[in-house]
Amino acid sequence: MTNTVAIGIQWGDEGKGKIVDLMAPDVDVVARFQGGPNAGHTLVIGDKKTVLNHIPSGILHDDTLCLIGNGTVVDPFRLVEEMDMLLAAGIPVVERLKISERCQLILPYHRALDAAREAAKGAGKIGTTGKGIGPCYEDKTARRGIRLIDLTSADLNDRIEANLEYVNFMLTQYLKAAPVTRADVDEALDLARARLLPLAADVPLILQKRIKAGERILYEGAQGSMLDVDHGTYPFVTSSNTVAGAALAGLGVGPGQVDAVLGICKAYTTRVGAGPFPTELYNAEGKCDAENAGKHMAEKGNEFGSTTGRPRRTGWFDAVVVQHAVRINGVTGLAITKMDVLDGLEEVKLCVAYELNGERLESVPACCAQLEAATPVYETLPGWSESTFGATALDQLPANALALLRRIEAVCDCPVSMLSTGPDRNHIIHL
Ligand code: IMP
Repeated sequence: MTNTVAIGIQWGDEGKGKIVDLMAPDVDVVARFQGGPNAGHTLVIGDKKTVLNHIPSGILHDDTLCLIGNGTVVDPFRLVEEMDMLLAAGIPVVERLKISERCQLILPYHRALDAAREAAKGAGKIGTTGKGIGPCYEDKTARRGIRLIDLTSADLNDRIEANLEYVNFMLTQYLKAAPVTRADVDEALDLARARLLPLAADVPLILQKRIKAGERILYEGAQGSMLDVDHGTYPFVTSSNTVAGAALAGLGVGPGQVDAVLGICKAYTTRVGAGPFPTELYNAEGKCDAENAGKHMAEKGNEFGSTTGRPRRTGWFDAVVVQHAVRINGVTGLAITKMDVLDGLEEVKLCVAYELNGERLESVPACCAQLEAATPVYETLPGWSESTFGATALDQLPANALALLRRIEAVCDCPVSMLSTGPDRNHIIHL
């Protein structure tokens, strides 16, 4: 096994940053294939917490090349800010990072459209991260997007003018919002030209050379499978494909160049933003289960968005969701994170099916309204009072925690290959 795709398989925030950072010393290249500054990957090393949005989670390691693929969307302000934060911490980002020349740029009008559309939707909003992700991917598909390499094109000015005319019509006439100025856009373009263009590269070429030389590649996803624009809880999803298959198109590699798919999930479930969540127990709007297990997860798990700071909704492990993810991604091994958050609960539950109108459903319905109306069918297992925090070997786990792990493997029909027991790099069990 050399080339692995690491992806989240719930609704994002599964702890991918830590797992990728952990795997980075054993690989030569870490490559991001989709998403943008909507992602927030938190790394904790010693006492230091680093949140990365665009930059692959391998950046803290010497000798690891980090690539941002064509399938991503890049906000020049955010990426430069992130680079500067790392440079200030002494990380030689410029030597370690290359950006695909085919990356789409998120420009100020994308953020303005995202905000205005969400405001116009009112109660029916998606609950986006507000980073301009949807409008930028829309422009890509509509063939009016601006890519990093387009900063060198003679027709850039005309294309920006045409985009601004269109966007400002939408903003002012349709969405009743303020227009975006050319000066705002130019500021972003100038910054991208000065700081990002020097890092632009032919990413597929780099990857093919590295793969031919026998180097190991880690393909890093963002968000989670249930936020995939095709396979997730549409329309409450992000605007890109987040599944393992997107690694191929989002970087320019072939199917034979992926050997394994690591599906990362929490030992429970969280979600930010709107949309169905069958096993939800707790949310900031006041939903709270009688046993307070959801509140326990939110508080002990510190469940606040690393990018937006929004409180996350929490609930039991949904094995129907994870089974769906195992199928659509071809997951070969699971990495279960935040096991320690369940310490102290009297019992723990696994959702093994849904019930809808008296019928038992074994897979995730494509229709959001059906998923919203479905009730979870739970298997209840005894909890444990001992601490699993920081455990580094299976024999340090209480018997009931181990039993939960084995049950997850059996129900999801997938082996667990890693178990994370705390935020630090060392808080891990390899199975
Ligand atoms: P967008 O990606 O900003 O358009 O947001 C669409 C949906 O995806 C919203 O429900 C967001 O909360 C969710 N989302 C986007 N990125 C992430 C992430 O990195 N973690 C968790 N949820 C995310």
